[in-house]
Amino acid sequence: MALSSCLLVALGFLTAEVTLSAGSTGCVARNFGHGSVVCECNSTYCDSVGSVTLPPLGQYSSYLTSMAGSRLEAGQGRVQVNSTGAALRLTIVPYQKYQKIRGFGGAMTDAAAINILSLSAGAQDQLLRQYFSPEGISYSVVRVPMASCDFSTRAYTYADTPGDYNLDHFNLAPEDIKMKIPLLQRAQALSPRPLSLLASAWSAPAWMKTNDALIGKGSLKGKPGGKVHKTWAHYYIRFLEEYAKYNLTFWALTTGNEPSAGRMTNYSFQALGFTPEEQRDWVALDLGPALHASSRPHTHILILDDNRLLLPYWAKVVLSDIHAGRYIHGVAVHWYFDHIVPAEISLGTTHHLYPEYYLFGTEACSGFLPTDRGVKLGSWDRAEHYAHDILEDLNHYVVGWTDWNLALDQTGGPNWVKNFVDSPVVVDAHRDVFYKQPTFYSMAHFSKFLWEGSQRVGVSASRENRPGILCLHQTRWFSGSHLTQQVIISAPV
Ligand SMILES: *[C@@H]1O[C@H](CO)[C@@H](O)[C@H](O)[C@H]1NC(C)=O
Ligand SMILES: *[C@@H]1O[C@H](CO)[C@@H](O)[C@H](O)[C@H]1NC(C)=O
Ligand SMILES: *[C@@H]1O[C@H](CO)[C@@H](O)[C@H](O)[C@H]1NC(C)=O
Ligand SMILES: *[C@@H]1O[C@H](CO)[C@@H](O)[C@H](O)[C@H]1NC(C)=O
Repeated sequence: MALSSCLLVALGFLTAEVTLSAGSTGCVARNFGHGSVVCECNSTYCDSVGSVTLPPLGQYSSYLTSMAGSRLEAGQGRVQVNSTGAALRLTIVPYQKYQKIRGFGGAMTDAAAINILSLSAGAQDQLLRQYFSPEGISYSVVRVPMASCDFSTRAYTYADTPGDYNLDHFNLAPEDIKMKIPLLQRAQALSPRPLSLLASAWSAPAWMKTNDALIGKGSLKGKPGGKVHKTWAHYYIRFLEEYAKYNLTFWALTTGNEPSAGRMTNYSFQALGFTPEEQRDWVALDLGPALHASSRPHTHILILDDNRLLLPYWAKVVLSDIHAGRYIHGVAVHWYFDHIVPAEISLGTTHHLYPEYYLFGTEACSGFLPTDRGVKLGSWDRAEHYAHDILEDLNHYVVGWTDWNLALDQTGGPNWVKNFVDSPVVVDAHRDVFYKQPTFYSMAHFSKFLWEGSQRVGVSASRENRPGILCLHQTRWFSGSHLTQQVIISAPV
């Protein structure tokens, strides 16, 4: 490393000289005994950090979230270049350029929509502003399940009429038309930029499947290139076209949620099994050509949409095939069981083998383990888990990270198979309030500061044993994040 081309900056914000006044961000804190607090919001009040403005040259802004109760607490100071002092020293290597950021967000599941709409109109608006407006945390990605998943109140697809190969009876559900679509339109109206919408299907209609059911072990009948596989590709196109009628256009679709789940005996909720070979051939023969010939040919195709422990194996099978590979843009990963496989072996290896395909996080949530189930209001451990996983992903070429349900109720549902989990926003419809959890702020430290198009650059820190990240905005602004500490540095490069 040529030190002369690096920029050494010392920041005072981690030292005792900078005192932050707790509570000034206006969080109405409530403690439920899980390590930290939630911020309560209602129809007329919600704490907000406001829009972020870049500091003048030579200065930095910092934002701190702490277990003790700070929530995006703003601080500022002067950058000391080439300092040898005791403060945090960052060595920035601007010529070491890595991936460009795509964005951060969450999923508009049926459950999320039901919970948001269970609030009064004023509280709904506060909640959507928190996620999507520039005064909120500037989410730019929304994953939209195609038809039902476990976070629905019933099992359905858009084409449940047996033998409907032409999809003559394809219809969006009331869940789309009455709930998800109006909410997505409101979210889009609050966002200064077009949202990056991402579609994933959980199961094909039962009549298309080997097991004649939405749940359990089953895959598409026949073979890639055959009648059912063509109909299933067409189903995706119909979905994109129907949403486009509501002015909702999709940035990307995945080849299907967790294809490994549909290969497990008695899997308890909607799933569609694919081996990597079947996925490769379905993309090459059916989905790729159908999308290319459709009215939405620029929609990206992301493969896998499953846990990273399947990498790099899955990517090798699918992306080594030039017929499939030419239709594909990226590899989508879920965070479950991330501790089993090191990021470098799964994400790093995949990136180095196939650098022209981006890696993107499409699902994560807390409270999914049998030993640590459901909602834990105010959990600080879960906030650290989120931040740590996002940092690890960003340090291994991932371009964005998508949380699971945007909002859940206090039991962690609704979920028709009782697969209850946690969410950064938990709604109490009875009191017409919602709670912003510590994980909401973990998301904020990335979504609010690492804008689309900013680029990760090399950085090392003098005293930080956890991974950090710095991204370059335009030509000279850096926005970085350590676990729950944000720093925006303004310095010449
Ligand atoms: C910082 O130190 C490097 C290496 O010694 C030097 O090249 C650079 O000019 C210094 N920068 C400033 C602003 O003093
Ligand atoms: C909303 O919360 C604020 C702050 O706690 C409170 O002053 C206000 O009365 C609440 N509004 C309603 C409608 O409950
Ligand atoms: C459609 O959405 C775009 C933003 O994505 C907006 O600029 C445009 O005005 C919308 N058109 C209609 C007819 O709502
Ligand atoms: C799957 O479910 C069937 C019917 O309930 C049951 O007989 C069978 O033992 C289950 N198999 C496994 C592996 O759990």
